[in-house]
Parts: sequence; C-alpha cells; structure tokens
Amino acid sequence: MCGIVGYIGGRSALQVLVDGLRRLEYRGYDSAGVAYANGGAIGIHKTRGRIDDLQNILPNPMPEAKAGLGHTRWATHGAPSDRNAHPHSTGGIAVVHNGIIENYQQLKSRLIAEGHEFASDTDTEVIPQLISGYMRQGMPFEAAMRRAILELKGSYALGIMSVWSPGKVFAVRNGSPLVVGFGQGEYFFASDIPAFLPYTKKFSFMEDGQIFILSAGEAMLEYLDSDAGPGKGPAQTVPKIVEIGWTAEMAEKEGYDYFMLKEIYEQPKTVMETMREWLDNPLDMLPAMGITTRMILGLRRLHIAACGTSYHAALVGKYAVEGLAHIPVEVEIASEFRYKNLLIEKNSLFVSITQSGETADTLAAQREAAKKGAYTLTICNVVGSTASREADSVLYTRAGPEIGVASTKAFTAQIAALCLLAVALGVRRGRLIADEAETITAQLKKMPLLLEKALASGPRVKDIAATLDDARSMLYLGRGINYPIALEGALKLKEISYVHAEGYPAGEMKHGPIALIDKRMPVVVVIPMGSLFEKTLSNIEEVKARGARVIAVTDEPASLHGKADETISVPSTHPVLSPFVNVIPLQMLAFHAGVLRGNDVDKPRNLAKSVTVE
Ligand code: G6P
Repeated sequence: MCGIVGYIGGRSALQVLVDGLRRLEYRGYDSAGVAYANGGAIGIHKTRGRIDDLQNILPNPMPEAKAGLGHTRWATHGAPSDRNAHPHSTGGIAVVHNGIIENYQQLKSRLIAEGHEFASDTDTEVIPQLISGYMRQGMPFEAAMRRAILELKGSYALGIMSVWSPGKVFAVRNGSPLVVGFGQGEYFFASDIPAFLPYTKKFSFMEDGQIFILSAGEAMLEYLDSDAGPGKGPAQTVPKIVEIGWTAEMAEKEGYDYFMLKEIYEQPKTVMETMREWLDNPLDMLPAMGITTRMILGLRRLHIAACGTSYHAALVGKYAVEGLAHIPVEVEIASEFRYKNLLIEKNSLFVSITQSGETADTLAAQREAAKKGAYTLTICNVVGSTASREADSVLYTRAGPEIGVASTKAFTAQIAALCLLAVALGVRRGRLIADEAETITAQLKKMPLLLEKALASGPRVKDIAATLDDARSMLYLGRGINYPIALEGALKLKEISYVHAEGYPAGEMKHGPIALIDKRMPVVVVIPMGSLFEKTLSNIEEVKARGARVIAVTDEPASLHGKADETISVPSTHPVLSPFVNVIPLQMLAFHAGVLRGNDVDKPRNLAKSVTVE
C-alpha cells in the first residue's frame, strides 16, 4: 500500500524524503511526489512512475527546504497518473495519505456544492479541500485541520503541512501504520521503519486517533478527539519511544542485485535467529507468550488467519500442530475469516500470522477473534507493529526487514516459529514424547546447514528456469505438509514471473487439473522421501503419461531417475521440517523465471508489500 514520509530538522529535507521514499517503494510504485516548505509557499513535485522518475523531475540542485512530505503510491481511487499523484494540495495546504477515505464521495459532493473545484480523482483530495473550506469560514488552520480529520471515515495515515503553520509538519494516524522517528532536534515520520533507519533507531508507533505536531525542536503528541470535545483542543500525551534493533544495512541490498535474492540467501541466518531463544527449551516459549499450562490442557482448537504467503505458512502450521500436538487447527484466509459467522468456542487460541503486522484483513480478523473472546497470539516480524501491539501476546519472527515484495525469508521464519510452537504444545499436552521432540529440535538446530545445502541448488535451478521461457502455465503438486509448499511455489511464480500457476494436492489432481496437462505444461512436484513418496510417484507417472514435463524437488533423486525430467536435490530432514528445504528451490525458480523475463522482481506489477486497505 502507499508509503508516506515526512521530515523536519536541519538536513536537506528533499534529500531525506527521497531517500526515505526509496526505502518505502515496496509499498507502491504507481506514482511519487514531495511537498516542501519553500519560503512562504509550498513547493510540490509529483509524477506518475517510480522514485527515479520523481528524482528526474526535481530541480537540480534541490531547493534547500528543512521540512516536507513525500509519498509513493499504490493506486486505489483514481488511475495511476500525474494528477492523481500525491501530495494533494489546495489553499496552501498539502496532504499525503495512505489508506482509504470511505466517505469521500459524500464529502466531495458537499464540497463541490459549496464551490470547491477538484483537481484529481482521489479520495485524498477531500482532505485539503475540507480544511480549506473550514478556513474560508474563518477557522484558523490547525482548528480547521482537526475538524476536517474528525469528519473522515475509513483508514488513514496522513502527513500534512501548510503555509498557515510554517515550521511545522503534522502526522496523523487512524487505522494505517505510522511511525515517528526521533533524531537530534529533527523528526521523521513514515509508514514503515526502514525509511529512516540510516538516521535514527528511536521510533514511536502512533496509535489510532493521534496527531504528532512536529517542529524543528519539539514533538508534541495529542489525541484529536480530546477531552475538550472533538477538535476543540489538545489532550497531550507522552510518546512511547522504542529502540529498534534493525540496522540500515539490513535494509540494503549488500551486493546483491535484488532484495529478493538477498533475502532468499539470508534464510539460514533468519531461521536460526527466529528460533535461537527457544531452541534449547521450546517449552519456555509458552509462558513467555502468556499461554499457561491450564490453557494448553483445555485448548479445544487453534484458529489461524493470515494472507498471502503468511497464509501458506499457516497451512504448514496446521499440519505441524495437528501432527505433533493433536490439536485441531482451522486455517482461514483473513479476509474470509473477518466476515463469516465465527464459531469460536471457549478455550480457543487465535493466531494471526503477519510479516508486517499491518495487513488490514489480518488485523480485522484478530480484532474479531478478540471480540469473540479468543486469546490472541500474533506471529509477527515487526516489533511495535499494530498486530503486535493489539494481540494478547506476540511470537516474533526475527527475519529482519523484508523489502522484496514477494515474501521469502519471512515465510521460513514463520514456519520456524510454528514448528517450535507445535513441539512445545505437543510436549505440554503429552502427545509428543521427549525423544521425538529432541529429534525434531536437533534437526531444527541443523536447519541453517540444511538450508545452505538447499541453496546450493541455485545454479541448477537457474538452468531449469531458462528452459521455461515458453511456459504459459505451470502446475505445482505436493502432498501433506508439502501441499502448502506447492501453493507457495505457485504463488511465487505468479507474483514474480507473471506466469499462471496453480498449486494442488497431488492426489486431487486427477479430479480436475489433469485436464490441463499436455506437453507444454511443466509440472513441479515436491516429493520428499517418506510415507507419501510412493503415492506421489504414482502422481508423477500420471502426469508423465499425459506428456507433461516433470520437475521434481526431492531428497531422493536416485529413485526418480527416468521418472522425472529434471530433479532438484534438497537435503533430507524430519518429515515435519521438509517444507523448509523444499520451498527454497521454488523461491529460486520463481526468482530466476522473473529475472529471465525481464521483470522487476523486487517490485512486481500491481502488488504491494503491505496491504493496509481491505
Ligand atoms: C501482500 C504481500 C505478500 C504477503 C501478504 C501478507 O500481499 O505482497 O508477500 O504475504 O501481503 O502480508 P503480511 O505482512 O500480513 O504477512
């Protein structure tokens, strides 16, 4: 979703804003723009396209402004175009916005009837128009701004500045993420932390209904709807500042051509970082998450909700928890979960899985589950994110900042957290004997090594990707705990290479997808040695008989000789942990297929990393 930034302080604001926008470009890349204090006026430059396009239209040298706002857009209302690019402005007021103003149509009609003229098709433009309308009625700028904001319905993170309040920028949050960074006599705000990591590690995560009033020497935090009455006056509060453990380098490419490739290769480290605290004694994680033995023994069901790749991690978690702890698990796509008649019985645990901690549908599902009385746990990668603040407890993945829009290292970190949770629940429920738990944790300790071995298939995967240039559609098959890996492999391919792909449980293929198969259809089969090996082998025979080209991902290449056209070898591990090694070649296959097609794999078309609107 869109990314917004703001700055006030002693540096060259435009430089800081453009740098910050580059680090947020994964949130949207339809258009970009900046607004800055320019003497007694506000300078605005904006354009359709990416941050490079914005850089190209900025004056050279850049104007020496000390305060400003910036925006990178993922279009919701109004096509990607110069006129719909943010900032939107009127009457000396400029606004950048991430989110959706749900009542904009109604506000716009009213404003048009009052004589306002609109310059864009966006929902955002009603905000400066509304403020300016109240100013025309005689209200001072800040009062008009507060009044206007309180009329907005929907979700928004806003950056606002005005010629009527020189030396100040305003950051407002309701429903969309916004963090404020604290420097020495300077302040930054952004939709996400990486924007300003080179400048500060101190951040305050804004709450809904709050406004930060930032000037060069002061940051004031207030509630918009104060005790004095809506919009009537400040109800000041003290910002909670947290120190972030991430470094600016973590959000850089560090010699790789793409973030996605860097993130794929980081997985041995990020999986270990996620598990490190709990690996020696997974049982410790339960009380640390506020989950008591009583709760565990009485636990009737786990509900997991997530979106995209995190949803596939949830499905792996279902197999792991049901297999090791014998607790029934319902997994649902968050956008479906939130709108159904939820049957959450007593003694249920709700788990949300979200890299960003800001996905609107996942947050809504978590809130709904909490309303229904479930204890809520989030498995989340961003410290201080909305999901982590609102859940009853948090199990952090330690993947570091993930910048590539298609998720990779967050996925393996999520399944690491879920496997440890499954082991802990299994032992505590008496369903997993100590020996088995030890075998699994011993394998988890070896996981960085196993992942390195899986990554060693990179050159082979690249060669295979080069043979897929005429593929129009691909099928991914897997069974059991590797069925979600087939889904994830297909999703990665769609996202990055724009080739249609479907993930299917191998045994179900004969009930439909087999009709699609001919010699132009490559079929990727995830086939680890184990109880389902023979059955999956039969599925390979079935697709081969219809002329398909089979690419097998396996730890048993010898048995596939003469059966699969290509084999990609991965190391063997415990069956529950096989998704870790099997997903690696599929991530790389999608990556290389995307690069070979000339796509920008870090910023695939139409996608955004963090979907903060419904
Ligand atoms: C977007 C991203 C996906 C991600 C999904 C869920 O669709 O493009 O890569 O898996 O959101 O994001 P979350 O932050 O909740 O894990």
